[in-house]
Amino acid sequence: MKYKILFAPLQGCTDYCYRNAFEQVFGGVDSYYTPFLRIERKEIRTRDIVGIKPENNHVPSLIPQILADTKEDFQQLMSVVLENGYKRVDINLGCPFPLIANKQKGSGMLPFPEKVEAMLSSVADYSDVTFSVKMRLGMSSPDECLALLPLFEKAGVSQISMHARLGSQQYKGNVDMDAFARFYDACSLPLIYNGDICTVEDIERITTRFPKLAGVMIGRGLLAHPELAMEYKQDVHLSDDERMEKYHQLHDLVFEAYRERLKGGDAQVVSKMKDFWEYFYPEMDKKSRKAIKKAITIAKYENAVMF
Ligand SMILES: Cc1cc2nc3c(=O)[nH]c(=O)nc-3n(C[C@H](O)[C@H](O)[C@H](O)COP(=O)(O)O)c2cc1C
Repeated sequence: MKYKILFAPLQGCTDYCYRNAFEQVFGGVDSYYTPFLRIERKEIRTRDIVGIKPENNHVPSLIPQILADTKEDFQQLMSVVLENGYKRVDINLGCPFPLIANKQKGSGMLPFPEKVEAMLSSVADYSDVTFSVKMRLGMSSPDECLALLPLFEKAGVSQISMHARLGSQQYKGNVDMDAFARFYDACSLPLIYNGDICTVEDIERITTRFPKLAGVMIGRGLLAHPELAMEYKQDVHLSDDERMEKYHQLHDLVFEAYRERLKGGDAQVVSKMKDFWEYFYPEMDKKSRKAIKKAITIAKYENAVMF
């Protein structure tokens, strides 16, 4: 049996240009999650709204993610999500960035069950929407997730994706598999494992240890090696030539999409391509990577991309 593979949301990396290109060249992903939409100075960024427009998205299953700490923010975000026809929404309780977490949002909300409960009370107002939660083990203690579990069950949350780190770790240190195991044992809701999956063997190791999982969510592992989900799902192993051909296809589609979207802005396009290269194809030689980092114009960038 093959487990579900979900593409984790990655702010700055998995926008619609990237998701569409990824689906066209590789696929193997059951659902894509958008980076979180949030309220900034009482508004939702236009870029985030454009990012969920159905006409911009060509993947079979897309789930918008929202980050809200008040009922008002929750409602404002939901109105945009509903206007665009979505019936599934993911709630972010995992963002560790101090600017967010210090305001008791994202993972910063995890130590405060009353706050989580108040936020979740909004879920009942949308009876035809299926809500999932993406969270961490806690902000500073892995017991925090256990205390919240009854609240998720009571609110009718349909699925939990658990990044097996603490908010205080940000992206550093190891995932805590023992704390994840305690949550797995206690959790009656469909559970998705997330954190540091880089290879097909990692997927198999985790699903063998936790067979009741509803799937795994992968972020940086897919950005680095986009063939990972497809190879797992189809039980194939691409030859080096096949893999490189697909890498070129992915690169060219993403590059073309950014040039189309950011018309006239050389610097912007190159900056987006640098985000693309932040995680992609880590085996590439250091010299080419350095040249990409230094490029400012599209011409210089094209010269630098000799992979
Ligand atoms: C650059 C970056 C941006 C991220 N943006 C989001 C986000 O918008 N929403 C979210 O829930 N998680 C976000 N995450 C966390 C990832 O979705 C994921 O939980 C984390 O990277 C661990 O999974 P991985 O080891 O498979 O990457 C982000 C992570 C990174 C590195």
